Amino acid sequence: GIPNHFIAQVAPNQMHIRRVEIIPLEVVVRNRAAGSLCRQTGLPLGLELNPPLVEFYLKNDALGDPLLTGDRLRLLQIATDEEVAQITQMALAVNTHLSRFFAECGITLVDFKLEFGRSQRGEILLADEISPDSCRLWNQEETDPEKRILDKDRFRQDLGAIEEAYALVMQRVLAHSIP
Ligand code: TMP
Repeated sequence: GIPNHFIAQVAPNQMHIRRVEIIPLEVVVRNRAAGSLCRQTGLPLGLELNPPLVEFYLKNDALGDPLLTGDRLRLLQIATDEEVAQITQMALAVNTHLSRFFAECGITLVDFKLEFGRSQRGEILLADEISPDSCRLWNQEETDPEKRILDKDRFRQDLGAIEEAYALVMQRVLAHSIP
């Protein structure tokens, strides 16, 4: 029920989508403290965040994707206040569905990044992709803080067994989706 750009999957690695103008924001939703939130605030890894934290980062590699404040968002005129409110609601709705979905797969959705675009009619649509490259996913069957990682942190932290972790996510997702 969340407006998005997906039309059809035409190949294992290709999707047919509605054309959008990508809004240059990385919208991050966090259910637990990890990554840059821990580094920048000192919060302990894994701390539950209730309500979830929604953050906006400027999508600009040259500037290091900086965290934006509400005033900076307004200053840069990347999106109107109304669009920011709509994107926040949509990101939280994605989080509600995706957290439940992954919990049913025995996986904790720690955080994730979304991108949004504007259609030719000016509607805000969820866009881009959701994958273990853009999420933090922890295996609920593991307590070891390294073994439980099923996402790109395995690569970022040089933990090895990256393909096995991604394959496990795919296995659990497919087992859940296909009756
Ligand atoms: P962070 O803790 O490094 O800010 O990342 C938060 C979430 O956003 C995490 O799930 C990884 C994802 N992410 C991306 O998908 N692309 C990026 O460029 C960054 C910095 C984070």
